[in-house]
Amino acid sequence: MIVGTVKEIKNHEYRVGLTPESVHELTAHGHRVLVESGAGEGIGAHDALYEKAGAEIVATAAEIFATADMIVKVKEPQAVERAMLRSGQILYTYLHLAPDPEQTRDLIASGATCIAYETVTDASGGLPLLKPMSQVAGRMAIQAGATALEKAHGGRGVLLGGVPGVLPAKVAVIGGGVVGFNAAQMAAGLGADVTILDRSPEVLEKLGMYFEARAKTRFSNRANLAECVAEADLVIGAVLIPGAAAPKLVSAEMLKTMKKGAVLVDVAIDQGGCFETSHATTHADPTYIVDGVVHYCVANMPGAVARTSTYALNNVTLPHALRIAELGWKEALRRDPHLREGLNVWDGKVTYRAVADDLGLPYSPAEEAIA
Ligand SMILES: NC(=O)c1ccc[n+]([C@@H]2O[C@H](COP(=O)([O-])OP(=O)(O)OC[C@H]3O[C@@H](n4cnc5c(N)ncnc54)[C@H](O)[C@@H]3O)[C@@H](O)[C@H]2O)c1
Repeated sequence: MIVGTVKEIKNHEYRVGLTPESVHELTAHGHRVLVESGAGEGIGAHDALYEKAGAEIVATAAEIFATADMIVKVKEPQAVERAMLRSGQILYTYLHLAPDPEQTRDLIASGATCIAYETVTDASGGLPLLKPMSQVAGRMAIQAGATALEKAHGGRGVLLGGVPGVLPAKVAVIGGGVVGFNAAQMAAGLGADVTILDRSPEVLEKLGMYFEARAKTRFSNRANLAECVAEADLVIGAVLIPGAAAPKLVSAEMLKTMKKGAVLVDVAIDQGGCFETSHATTHADPTYIVDGVVHYCVANMPGAVARTSTYALNNVTLPHALRIAELGWKEALRRDPHLREGLNVWDGKVTYRAVADDLGLPYSPAEEAIA
């Protein structure tokens, strides 16, 4: 198969669909890989590295869209890219179609086979191609929070781990899923005094067994949240109710009970945020202050660590890319019902029910596509 990767053109997107190592795997399996010149610059992977891995460097995205059987990307195709997609071509990338009628319309019109990373599942019902970005964001949340706690950034001048003779900072992590677990791991590793709140008894039990004495777990209800938030130096917002806007767990009233210079990192901001006073910020200007409390609410945290994020993403996307390249998309989807869940648009039809329902479009089951 001819597989192509283009330079991401979305604003401030530095990740890339295929690393040189992934290209090497594909070419070792006998596939031809086309890489747009400069596609890997954002992660420090120059054209020469891709060439060494067996890729052919191509000057323009247009040539790749015209030649490749499968395009492997990171972000959803932008309008100019969608215009270059061809009928029958495979597009394998994050799509997030439900809130994006324009993109959905263009993908339908293209006739391409569009497989979305974010809806591919695994045997435990998880979303394995979304998980690495939550791991990155969870870990980054502690770095971002630690920086914001410094005086120069408006924080109360507290070192997360303290030093011998001085108590560590109190960190409250609201939501103990992938983001929360990774945030708690980092905070506990730095020696902070960590409490994780969740409302799922199973999640609390797992966290309790994993962390033992290194972090406390607490059931998430109003009273416990209010107490933890008032005492915390750093609060991480990491809740998710799948498919719904994040619940506003920390109200503007609760914020007034917090210490001046305390920090809120609202990772759930991409779902609207779980603090009432949150609004989305960017890496260029990540924080603002309300009632003396520093808010960090960057909606695309993994973008700041494009290299780590690209490698983490490739670890989970490459095995499917290899199978699609080897078997063709139909057979790969026939054999793997979890990858089949990734099919969002095919031959001008929406094949993912939630996207069809949200956009009021007819739904055509993925099973029909592979029949
Ligand atoms: N800002 C970013 O760059 C970025 C990056 C990755 C993920 N995210 C977001 O982070 C959020 C968390 O993602 P995740 O992968 O950890 O989700 P997850 O499903 O793994 O975990 C969410 C957890 O929240 C818990 N929860 C739900 N309601 C709660 C409540 N009222 N109180 C306490 N806990 C509650 C659930 O039980 C679950 O354990 C999502 O909104 C996700 O989109 C943001």
